[in-house]
Amino acid sequence: HKSVSRNDLRLADLKPRLGKTSLIMSLVSEEFPDDVPLRAEEITIPADVTPERVPTHIVDYSGNNSNVTVHHNSAGLLGIDMFSLTQVTSHWIPLINDRTDKDSRVPLILVGNKSDLVEHSSMETILPIMNQYSDIETCVECSAKNLKNISELFYYAQKAVLHPTGPLYCPEEKE
Ligand code: GTP
Ligand code: MG
Repeated sequence: HKSVSRNDLRLADLKPRLGKTSLIMSLVSEEFPDDVPLRAEEITIPADVTPERVPTHIVDYSGNNSNVTVHHNSAGLLGIDMFSLTQVTSHWIPLINDRTDKDSRVPLILVGNKSDLVEHSSMETILPIMNQYSDIETCVECSAKNLKNISELFYYAQKAVLHPTGPLYCPEEKE
């Protein structure tokens, strides 16, 4: 597998207020923040407390995501909600591909936060999109408020960079 010295996670979302900053703060303090700043400070989680033993750098974005940069060895966590799912394919995947070197691939994780507020799982809607786009490594339903799937979410993101399951090459691109 790839040798990666540091993991970069960039949190972006399709609409503001989906809970990026809360997710980071819940991960770090294991507690839902009542008062949440616009952006969390950039932090690096030390190797010895991550499941894959690789330091993980987490970058938060707020509001307008037009300045999101994509780096090698990074995974993107995209906040989604049911009403903006189509933007994943119409807007986000093209935008991220645009900003990525031709031969590197940024694994994406779709994050459905605030699962404490919804009664129905959105997996049925998400699965067909996942199957269609190999860049989408996985999807997670979680809640910063209930601390549900929070450490799992960041673990999946680490794993997506270290052990991507996407294709190593696309047959269609090979002439
Ligand atoms: P921007 O920085 O403005 O783009 O927002 P953000 O994506 O960082 O969201 P933020 O963490 O500021 O959360 C927005 C609002 O949603 C706040 O009022 C949070 O308390 C609330 N919130 C965040 N996560 C959850 C959650 O899991 N459940 C519930 N019920 N509310 C949440
Ligand atoms: Mg924020």
